[in-house]
Amino acid sequence: MPVGEQTARRERRVPRHVAIIMDGNGRWAERRHLPRFAGHKAGVDALRVAVESAGRRGVKVLTVFAFSSENWRRPEEEVGLLMGLFLTALEQRVQELHENNVRVRVVGDRTAFNARLQQRIEEAERLTRANDGLQLIIAANYGGRWDVVQAARRVAEAVQSGTLAPGQVDLEVFASHLCLHGVPEPDLFIRTGGERRVSNFLLWDLAYTELYFTDTLWPDFDAEALDQALASYAARQRRFGKTGQQVEQGEGEHG
Ligand code: IPE
Ligand code: IPE
Ligand code: MG
Repeated sequence: MPVGEQTARRERRVPRHVAIIMDGNGRWAERRHLPRFAGHKAGVDALRVAVESAGRRGVKVLTVFAFSSENWRRPEEEVGLLMGLFLTALEQRVQELHENNVRVRVVGDRTAFNARLQQRIEEAERLTRANDGLQLIIAANYGGRWDVVQAARRVAEAVQSGTLAPGQVDLEVFASHLCLHGVPEPDLFIRTGGERRVSNFLLWDLAYTELYFTDTLWPDFDAEALDQALASYAARQRRFGKTGQQVEQGEGEHG
């Protein structure tokens, strides 16, 4: 295949699943001499733009880190405001998402949330369940280690109840108990806000994900910034353990 044609093919390559750590809200606000909460509010607007742009670009699944299992360590006031913002965002934005054919799912330990928030989460999931446009997965009170442990617990329960033999526990069986089972693994991971770390986001699922870090603070992350990340992804060669030559010869990406 001529090089030009190959490049064109790569440029068209759109990740099916993008996972984002939406970081930098606090600094965005502090730079404007605003309370941190103003940054979180602006972050909700940035998410709206990201959902829209990702959908338009052909991304099928967008998983976003909204609140980590470690974020409870923040000042009580900020945690309270974040919970309130999550509730308001669900109440005000889900209808629009539904109209845009977006399916909303929330992953993480939701039992820690108050009853009203849990109810709104369930309503959002129920309302949008049959939508077949972009799937928006919101990770809230989520931790990658927690995810692996809850999967291990469920596997152990299945073994104890006799429905599963220990020897049957393989990669596929184990992964079927993780929060993101049923969607393709993330192709592209984006972290805004300048930090180069995973902060206990998806651990298992990121095994072969392409990583992209940007200094842009989350509230400033717009359609153009997403396009830059998508362009970076499109220019990469994913080898999955194979040689570059094998991939060039089109032996398929997986397996
Ligand atoms: C990410 O922004 C949002 C949450 C963690 C909820 P931050 O609040 O972490 O923003 P910085 O990192 O302090 O700027
Ligand atoms: C990760 O951001 C969690 C979310 C974006 C929800 P943090 O700002 O909490 O991460 P650390 O603590 O700086 O690693
Ligand atoms: Mg942060």
